[in-house]
Amino acid sequence: MTNDTNVTWHEHRVSRDDRERINGHRGCVIWFTGLSGSGKSTLANILDHMLCERGVRTAVLDGDNVRHALNAGPGMLRETHGEAFAERFGLGFTAIDREENIRRIGAVAQLFCETGVIALTAFISPYRLDRQRVRDTMREGDFIEVFVDTPLEICEERDPKGLYKKARAGEIKHFTGIDDPYEAPEAAELVLHADGERPPEALAVEVIEYLISRGILP
Ligand code: PPS
Repeated sequence: MTNDTNVTWHEHRVSRDDRERINGHRGCVIWFTGLSGSGKSTLANILDHMLCERGVRTAVLDGDNVRHALNAGPGMLRETHGEAFAERFGLGFTAIDREENIRRIGAVAQLFCETGVIALTAFISPYRLDRQRVRDTMREGDFIEVFVDTPLEICEERDPKGLYKKARAGEIKHFTGIDDPYEAPEAAELVLHADGERPPEALAVEVIEYLISRGILP
């Protein structure tokens, strides 16, 4: 990797194995991807709750929430940091902004994973390459891609925040599934059909069973 800033990587005294031994389970990243309204956040929250009940150490990173702080948009940064800063570091929904959004989240999720925590991320993460890049930064088996495969028609019918309506009316540009692409995973570890046929709790149990089968949970 090019190092053009004279920074050096430091090894830490407490290893990941040490931390996982204390936690009683392995760390990993459960990466939910899917359209807006597909059920990613709902699933991540139900799963988070189920895991916490089992004494598992978890962290949830959620699109809307992360875009309020770490990956705030220019509008949120302008007042506190000024115009130039907001324009340079604020993130919106262009392809390059989504790329940076996912890169930062990937780095944070990896940090959690390396401390033996199960990180649950819920981002549209519409581009295959962006998701692959996060996978590539992680150890084999640490990145568990979960495709929340809910058809666009159902997401649009749910429209919990009224955003599809706005996108159809042309009030929001670059809206995923409407005038911006969503590249479905080709080899996700899990595909969950959150179309209402099965309750989200049953889908969360499927993820837990997968984690047990992989030896991540005892
Ligand atoms: S991405 O594509 O991964 O960078 O997006 P993410 O960080 O997950 O943020 C998605 C949430 O932002 C709201 N929103 C939009 N989504 C898609 N396209 C556009 N243009 C857009 N503008 C705002 C929307 O509430 C998404 O939340 P979810 O939970 O996915 O519905």
